[in-house]
Amino acid sequence: DSSRSWRRAATLLLAAGHAPPSPSAAAEDYEVLLLQRTQSSSFLPGAHVFPGGVLEAADCSTDWLAVFQPHHGPPSFGLALSGPRENYPEVALAPWPGCRSLIPDDVAFRICAIRETFEESGILLLLRNGAKAPHLARAHAPPADLAAWRARVKEDPGQFLQLCQRLGCVPNLWALQEWSNWLTPFVRKGGRRFDTRFYVCCLQSKPQTFLDMLEAIKCEWITPTGAIKKFAYEEIWLAPPQFYEIRRLKNFASLLDLHKFCLDRSSEGCERWLPITLLTLDGAMQLLPGDELYHEDKEFLEKNLSINKKTEEIMGKNRTLHRIVLHSRYHYSIHVTIQPKYKHIYPENFLGFKNHL
Ligand SMILES: *[C@@H]1O[C@H](CO)[C@@H](O)[C@H](O)[C@H]1NC(C)=O
Ligand SMILES: *[C@@H]1O[C@H](CO)[C@@H](O)[C@H](O)[C@H]1NC(C)=O
Repeated sequence: DSSRSWRRAATLLLAAGHAPPSPSAAAEDYEVLLLQRTQSSSFLPGAHVFPGGVLEAADCSTDWLAVFQPHHGPPSFGLALSGPRENYPEVALAPWPGCRSLIPDDVAFRICAIRETFEESGILLLLRNGAKAPHLARAHAPPADLAAWRARVKEDPGQFLQLCQRLGCVPNLWALQEWSNWLTPFVRKGGRRFDTRFYVCCLQSKPQTFLDMLEAIKCEWITPTGAIKKFAYEEIWLAPPQFYEIRRLKNFASLLDLHKFCLDRSSEGCERWLPITLLTLDGAMQLLPGDELYHEDKEFLEKNLSINKKTEEIMGKNRTLHRIVLHSRYHYSIHVTIQPKYKHIYPENFLGFKNHL
């Protein structure tokens, strides 16, 4: 039953410089791209998400070798080799020809993220073949017949390669830095599950977006601070991993700092997290690895954890915490007392805004 197997996916945190409206705004000097999914979509309907989607066989087609030559090719395509990736828990991934291809995962997942970003937002993260990558990436101008190309790519992901060839360009792999890796938490048996690599890409300036109105009905560039506020005011809804990642970005007030941080740790390695839902007597939370109540047990791939206590009883200062408490649909808090691995950074503790207290 293929609906039960995990699908590989890639997501892109696209950050772009912007001029803050006023110095007193005290938000970040960059915005991230959020797309609102349609209410009819089967996964996270209505939610605001980063662009991304499922890895296709076309993303690791050996035909890409011809597109990248003579400037780049196996084994690494000029990418910093990715560091260790935690493999717990092993999940039954849907069959995929990747392992037989000359296109390494580090390349295929980036092509996937770039292709999906094009499909959903019209933004083309391409570089003229052989061109030197600028310090901060720039998006390529959309092709003249954008709508037609996009329809073709949606119909057949292999068309993305044709588009690159037509434009004399290659996907700008080098602009995407590995950031994190999330496994979809269990909700119910047979639900859709993804093993999703998250990348960050820092752009000099905001490119224009073109909605497709199929997968995404709204495109929004917003500062991390702005997104957290809109969520609290119930103007947008974020799933816990997206909320966590936006809070994590809030560690960086400047795009250049974020970019430097990503480059510095690009080959350090990556944690891969399976959040476990813990149901308490009066609420729920998502436990992340390192939390004292987290269980490294495959059983919780397909099961919630529950405890005969109230949420408040298992919080408190003298504890080892790495969790997202789900107080209500629009109120999450984040509690982290552990140290990050792989030179990464975790979000600061966050209790929510006053209007929730
Ligand atoms: C597991 O927890 C989630 C989150 O609270 C909930 O939506 C879901 O219904 C629970 N599933 C089961 C089988 O208890
Ligand atoms: C905090 O935890 C440590 C180690 O578990 C323990 O020795 C200490 O007594 C605790 N302190 C308080 C105030 O509970």
